[in-house]
Amino acid sequence: MVGLGYVGAVAAVALAHSGHEVLGVDVDREKVAAFQQGICPFHEPELPGLLSSGLAAGRLRFQHPQEVTVPLGEIILVAVGTPSRPYGGTDLSQVRAAIQWVRQRRPGPAVLVMKSTVPPGTGRRLVDEELAGTGLRYVANPEFLREGQAVRDWFHPDRIVIGGEDEEAIDLVKKMFAGIKAPVLVTGITSAEMIKYAANAFLATKISFINEVAGLCARVGADIDEVAYGIGLDPRIGPSFLRAGLGYGGSCFPKDVRALEFCSAVNGYNFELLRAVINVNNRQRLLPLQALRRVFGTVKGVKVALLGLTFKPGTDDLREAPALDIGRLLIEEGAEVRAYDPQVAAGNGHPLLPGEIDLRTSALEALQGVQAAVLVTEWPEFCELPWEQVVQIMVSPRLIFDGRNALDGRKLIELGFRYQGVGRGGA
Ligand code: UDX
Repeated sequence: MVGLGYVGAVAAVALAHSGHEVLGVDVDREKVAAFQQGICPFHEPELPGLLSSGLAAGRLRFQHPQEVTVPLGEIILVAVGTPSRPYGGTDLSQVRAAIQWVRQRRPGPAVLVMKSTVPPGTGRRLVDEELAGTGLRYVANPEFLREGQAVRDWFHPDRIVIGGEDEEAIDLVKKMFAGIKAPVLVTGITSAEMIKYAANAFLATKISFINEVAGLCARVGADIDEVAYGIGLDPRIGPSFLRAGLGYGGSCFPKDVRALEFCSAVNGYNFELLRAVINVNNRQRLLPLQALRRVFGTVKGVKVALLGLTFKPGTDDLREAPALDIGRLLIEEGAEVRAYDPQVAAGNGHPLLPGEIDLRTSALEALQGVQAAVLVTEWPEFCELPWEQVVQIMVSPRLIFDGRNALDGRKLIELGFRYQGVGRGGA
């Protein structure tokens, strides 16, 4: 497994658990050292246990690429990062470096399985340009893991997508997944790549769609919770991904939607819907500032607590989290911002967070003396806060902006808060 980021680490550990012999490599020496010692460098339920058992069974090893002395095996998986470039394209330099490294090691007739998310058309080009004459057969095998439930998703996927042209290579990859019950879909390489982008783009579209409906609900007096439930009962629509709020973040949706839009543009196709999805998602991040301005006139000098920072509950990941933009906007307008997140340690700050955000060690500490609070991430502990106590420690007007529609607004209003949700009616 080349690349021990989120996908690579989960896949390596899970494959070892299924009985395969796995070598994980990564250019980050600290990360390799952590995995060697059985320490998982990020928060993911169930992963530490499987990591320890894989190491103990001797089926799982980690090495820096320069130190690898053993043969690379029958299947070489690539799960390195494919970050966005500033103009929207995808930076494939890590993929190219990984393939270069594999080629230098002359692996013999192995199968190269691409788990990194690469733009449609990439695999085809790699096969023609970089793998020709190497004996490496290429298979695209996109990954649909969700952070926070990645181990579960690995062992119980909705589908396994295998994009390839070589029967033997496809069969070997099928064998790698033996024991996992899921429909296996064999497609062309470019279709497999497109399935990954189209799935993420569709889910992002659902989120932006419900956020648009929420914007209108707020204006006509409808309630988005009732509306989302009402439309979700239609099995053609389905109930999931209809939670209105501050929009999507994380390491996949924002990057993949932008990359698909860029891919469309460079292929001379105008994918109008995707631009709207992106614009709506960016706009949702302005909602807390707009709500505060409506109540306070200006937010200059207003003390605001952010409840939650990660892009969703159950993870410690701050990549493209709405909280980053929300915090920045409030600070730029002169608000005094403090924050609490169960997975972001107070003390030394966080490299992705603006330094002006004052990180606190508990929700109550963050809420002490503030005029307004924004619920950014719906961690269960925020839904269970002792609001009777919070009303005492916050100061007037005690505005709660519920950016995830996770709180009981009616109860909060009864307790003396000013409550505002997203498409749930005003404060
Ligand atoms: C996502 C895909 O679900 C996964 O299949 C893919 O492989 C990687 O990207 P993940 O980034 O872990 O997984 O998060 P997910 O649980 O899908 O949520 C993404 C974002 O959408 C979060 O910021 C979440 O808060 C937001 N979201 C989700 C909503 O705003 N409303 C919803 O109804 C659902």
